[in-house]
Amino acid sequence: MTSNYIGQPVSRVDGRAKVTGQAKYAAEFNVVNGIVYGFVVSSPIAKGKITVVNTRQALAQKGVLQVFTHENVSGLAWFDRSYKDQDSPSDGSPFRAFQSPEIQFSQQPIALVVAETFELARYAAGLIHFEYEVDEKLVAGLEENLDKARKPKTYKVPMAKPRGKAEDAYEQSAVKHHGDYYHGSEHHNPMEMHATTVIYGEDDKLIIYDKTQGVQNSQKYVKNVFGLSTEEARVISPFVGGAFGSGLRPQYQLYMAVLAALELKRSIKVVLTRQQMFSFGHRPATLQKIVMGASEDGKLQSIMNHAYTETSQFEEYTENIVNWSGYLYQCDNVKFDHQIVPQDVYTPLDMRAPGGVTGVYAMEVAVDELAYKAGKDPLDFRILNYAEKDQNDDLPFSSKELRQCYLQGAERFGWSKRNAEPRSMREGHSLIGWGVATGAWEAQQMPVRARALFSIDGKLVVSSATADFGTGTYTSMTQIAADTLGLNIEDVLFKLGDSSMPMSPLSGGSWTASSVGSAVYSVCENVKKKLFSLARKVENSPFANSDTEDVVFDGGRISLKSNPQVYLTMTEVMQKSGTNVIDEDTISLPNMLKQKFYSRYTHSAVFVEVKVDEDLGTIQVSRVVSAVAAGRIINPKTARSQVLGGVVWGIGQALEEDSVLDNRFARFMNHNLAEYHVVVNADVKDIDVIFVEEHDDVVNPLGVKGLGEIGIVGVAAAISNAVYHATGKRVRDLPIHLDKVM
Ligand code: MOS
Repeated sequence: MTSNYIGQPVSRVDGRAKVTGQAKYAAEFNVVNGIVYGFVVSSPIAKGKITVVNTRQALAQKGVLQVFTHENVSGLAWFDRSYKDQDSPSDGSPFRAFQSPEIQFSQQPIALVVAETFELARYAAGLIHFEYEVDEKLVAGLEENLDKARKPKTYKVPMAKPRGKAEDAYEQSAVKHHGDYYHGSEHHNPMEMHATTVIYGEDDKLIIYDKTQGVQNSQKYVKNVFGLSTEEARVISPFVGGAFGSGLRPQYQLYMAVLAALELKRSIKVVLTRQQMFSFGHRPATLQKIVMGASEDGKLQSIMNHAYTETSQFEEYTENIVNWSGYLYQCDNVKFDHQIVPQDVYTPLDMRAPGGVTGVYAMEVAVDELAYKAGKDPLDFRILNYAEKDQNDDLPFSSKELRQCYLQGAERFGWSKRNAEPRSMREGHSLIGWGVATGAWEAQQMPVRARALFSIDGKLVVSSATADFGTGTYTSMTQIAADTLGLNIEDVLFKLGDSSMPMSPLSGGSWTASSVGSAVYSVCENVKKKLFSLARKVENSPFANSDTEDVVFDGGRISLKSNPQVYLTMTEVMQKSGTNVIDEDTISLPNMLKQKFYSRYTHSAVFVEVKVDEDLGTIQVSRVVSAVAAGRIINPKTARSQVLGGVVWGIGQALEEDSVLDNRFARFMNHNLAEYHVVVNADVKDIDVIFVEEHDDVVNPLGVKGLGEIGIVGVAAAISNAVYHATGKRVRDLPIHLDKVM
């Protein structure tokens, strides 16, 4: 395998299509005449029952085709299982629109108006008359309802086993700390709103353009709910304008668009509004009660974390919040607990580094507090308690260059110039604070199929039904394919986002580069084998007596290692052997036998400088250095972008993003971008990303660990710790608004 492209900062192969507007998103496929538009009506109440629906006035408008509500939708799947998708919580019953008059959460979709124009559908939506029986007994607010906390039936990621005697060790510790850390709810706010366009074919087959992180997941859902065959429901999603987990579950606009298309036998488009983007899942509010002890010389003796997270009344959502507390550092006495508090809101949903973001945030602020109490520099304290193995699973690491992240990050940041004393560094009106935190995320691999077609013209097309939601999958997979077969990158096309392509799971969990990458590598290796066996058989072949080890595939040629002047071009081989196309389809499975003996994670060290205005309390993140160890980096340019995005979101998490639930109405009150603040350019100053060299032959043959989520983990804690260093105020709930530091 050559390395002409892997490891190089190749610009995005889909970049031109994106910046010129040629890249089409789910709501942009409007090629057919007579397409109609659906507009969703959302419930103003959070709990109760619809008692009256009057659609007469809406239906009387010329051009309004239908209004779907619970009163006229029936005949869908009976089985609860049919509504479950790859990312459904294991326990509970997924939300189903229009199946009953019950209202279970604020903004629940209660009607779909279909009309000849979007404007008309939206207008007619306002003409529908609803009456409700309101249930005033609402459960809303995590901290207000801790008395309702209970164990979930299952944990999505099982809690790690406790070890040692955490209570006793804590009692005996010379240095003690305990704190309650709260992280509020957040909503995914990708640029692209959730949307589905259904093209109703003459043969009654549907082509469904959906915003999703998994076309085959959306397809499976549609097939199960509506009783369609694979051929009747093809799902396509070539481009996704950001998702961050919001595209892991099929969202209700998909269900509604398919429902209306089948009922009306028309092509239809349903696009949610920005406000409705706050109606289907969020990062759950989380409270962690952390108790820690260390010896006089700063060695961790005991860690206990009792976490509470919210879920809905109809599904049990859990994520790995607490295991991080036992994972990050060497400590022999550890204990966890994690309870859920069901509330009258929609089920929470995976959001970038789900559980890691919140779990590591609390742990890394607590560790900082303990370091101060032990009189240690926060970085020294972390290195002193470095974990040489994963004590949660009692396994060695497949690789872990976190120490290098600390050292290289500190060097780049200038950490040694830090004055340990809080409020000791200033610049004019600003208090300067420097903080550090550790980040970690899993390095996983999933089974994936890929298909490769190598043609007589020397062009290679590789495909797999995965997604690229801004992550750079198109580009990195093209690089892997080009290097594996030794082609010029211009001769390689990677295709994704079509349910008719070979099997690929949801794109999430940072596993796409490793999983799809391994499949692309394997299938191209198989093409290579075929090509070489053809090359050996052509007339007067220079390779008649050679083995694969004797030749090099590079630049579209096969040449002898011992004498590069002796070669055949790949197109020559195809022509001379009379082969039009080599067509391979390969499944790539994780090597479980090897992997089960190792703990596989990515790591980071995040260094942050903040400037806090002494009079106004305004906080600016002036400098960030993020040092990341994530195995082999396929593309340092797209990889850097992933980490940059993570850091930017970490700034939002620490200082701005906050979905404010009004507990009296169980309603997120700031469901728009005017009041839900996300980071803008003016909030982002200097961000420096370092990739630490890390070799790993356990994770997969390419040594790739994945980068989708590690960039955000640890950022909020580092900011929080920097704010403490600047101001001497320890804030234990996010976001840190200026009133909290004044
Ligand atoms: Mo990520 S939350 O797995 O899209």
